[in-house]
Amino acid sequence: MDRVKLADSAEVREGAVHAVKAEGRSILLSRVGGKVCAVENRCPHFGLPLARGKVADGTIRCPFHGSRFDLCSGENLDWVKSVGGLPLPEWSRGLVALGKQPTPLRRFEVNEENGAVFLQQP
Ligand code: FES
Repeated sequence: MDRVKLADSAEVREGAVHAVKAEGRSILLSRVGGKVCAVENRCPHFGLPLARGKVADGTIRCPFHGSRFDLCSGENLDWVKSVGGLPLPEWSRGLVALGKQPTPLRRFEVNEENGAVFLQQP
């Protein structure tokens, strides 16, 4: 199995994300409960980067329209809830979503070894 070094372990901290590039993609690394997790740095709503989103309790909230995702599983937890940080009324969320349905983030297999984080590839 091939692997690609993504970061030094010290760069991946609890309560934060660390964006790296690998294999032509931008990947967000995070540490949740001591474990390193990796998801694509691309919101499935409009394809915009998530890296500047608010991180809390192992989740990240998209800075553009407030969708929220689990940083380890990629699961979608909230879908299109705000614009520029201002809450959207329920009736307008479908308009801002532009017909896009809740979608999880792509996740990547990573492992941590000898002070570094590696992307596992099949
Ligand atoms: S771009 Fe992320 S919720 Fe719209």
